[in-house]
Amino acid sequence: MPQLTFLPHYQIGPAGKVITVEEGTSILEAALANEIELEHNCGGVCACTTCHIIVQTGLSSLLAASEVEEDLLDRAWGLTAESRLACQAIVGTENLTIEIPKYTVNLASERH
Ligand code: FES
Repeated sequence: MPQLTFLPHYQIGPAGKVITVEEGTSILEAALANEIELEHNCGGVCACTTCHIIVQTGLSSLLAASEVEEDLLDRAWGLTAESRLACQAIVGTENLTIEIPKYTVNLASERH
């Protein structure tokens, strides 16, 4: 089973964490099941950017992002070429190294 290495994040996990997950699991599901509290304001339906992650290694093993995901990512804080939305990124056969960006943009709350 693939290993996911979450790099240290000052709030979500200062020590970082390595977890093992089943193929076919979204990175968001895998994180939440292992007490890595990634934000997910829309509930994982690809309608916000709060689950933004940066996949530092293993990105090519993930299915390509949809147009909707790409459009949302354009609004994410700290966008990189390795950015994905954790709820849309499905773990394949390869190990992944994941950075959680320092900040998130809560589109829902910014509209008010
Ligand atoms: S949780 Fe909202 S897009 Fe992933």
